[in-house]
Amino acid sequence: MAHNSPLRDALLSGTWLVTGGCGFIGSEFIRQALRTLPNVRIVNVDALSYAASPERLATVASDSRYKFFKANIAHPAEVQAAFEACGANGPTAVINFAAESHVDRSLFTGVPFVLANTVGVQVLLEESRKYVGKGFARFVQVSTDEVYGDVAAPHRSVETDPIHTSSPYSASKAGGELLVQAFIRSFNFPAVITRCSNNYGPWHWPEKMIPLFITNLLAGKKVPVYGDGQQRRDWIHVEDHASGILAALLKGKDGEIYNFDGEIEIDNLALTKKLLALAGRDESFIQYVKDRPGHDRRYALDSAKAQRELGWHQKWTLDAGLKQTFEWFVANKSWLDKVLNAEYQAYYKQQYEVR
Ligand SMILES: NC(=O)c1ccc[n+]([C@@H]2O[C@H](COP(=O)([O-])OP(=O)(O)OC[C@H]3O[C@@H](n4cnc5c(N)ncnc54)[C@H](O)[C@@H]3O)[C@@H](O)[C@H]2O)c1
Repeated sequence: MAHNSPLRDALLSGTWLVTGGCGFIGSEFIRQALRTLPNVRIVNVDALSYAASPERLATVASDSRYKFFKANIAHPAEVQAAFEACGANGPTAVINFAAESHVDRSLFTGVPFVLANTVGVQVLLEESRKYVGKGFARFVQVSTDEVYGDVAAPHRSVETDPIHTSSPYSASKAGGELLVQAFIRSFNFPAVITRCSNNYGPWHWPEKMIPLFITNLLAGKKVPVYGDGQQRRDWIHVEDHASGILAALLKGKDGEIYNFDGEIEIDNLALTKKLLALAGRDESFIQYVKDRPGHDRRYALDSAKAQRELGWHQKWTLDAGLKQTFEWFVANKSWLDKVLNAEYQAYYKQQYEVR
């Protein structure tokens, strides 16, 4: 946007430190940025947790504008080295995707969540601040609609709504956000925060609902629906989320929060039926299981601000996106077979077989 053009010019020819780039959303962001912005360089900083898959970046791995740096964002010395890998002046921008991202795992133990999602943000902020004045232009904290907690219909959460978290995951993400806001207030630190609804799309790790259900259906297994299946979510295709973060980075205003959603609110049971239809299975493939403790009934976002101020808009409809995602999983069964490893099987057993 015109009011930000010197910043935009700096960003468009800069080096971006992207954390968690081997994850589901970070990898889409990196692929999209390198495909659409010819002069941007990216250093991907990832600890390679269980949810990382470097294969998601196979199409950019040999691009001279791309570099991988293994580091844990909660470790100051590793983060310092990662910033130095961006060159003498450090990165022009930090886009923080790195996180422990699965709510169910946070209910087993929240410690890794607080370390990655809260402590890790503080470490990144402190390191970034050292580079302000040397060309560091913007920090983007990628956050979630889960910080708003349950939302009663017909309200859709707006950026000024209070934070009201329900799980160790959402509480740790809220902690990260609050630290970013503290830096904005205390140091005039150049940062924006994005909050997005549930993502889906190709390369999604099969512990999350949509890829889990596709994986089970492809294997001829039932799908585990939590409780009464009436929890409502606002699904967004991962490509639309990544384009939103790019817009917030390039066109957003310092200190602001931007919501991104798919404008498709649907309950879990109705979504399950869409996936059953894609797989050619009937409702006998539904297995109702005990609900998640503290499970929020409804999330719904209003992303009018991002549409108005960033010129962003969702491109995918849910039906087209689910079909594309289902077909991607069928065509990429070898990736799926690889990630359905012993760690995944142990998690699945702990999560579902005792429910
Ligand atoms: N998936 C969603 O529906 C959704 C919705 C809204 C917001 N978000 C947010 O988007 C971001 C990305 O989510 P995702 O679904 O791609 O997650 P993901 O679990 O697929 O990937 C997370 C990545 O971060 C890395 N990572 C984890 N801890 C790290 C650490 N301490 N240091 C460095 N790297 C670390 C992992 O190795 C992995 O590659 C997260 O911050 C998440 O909270 C996700």
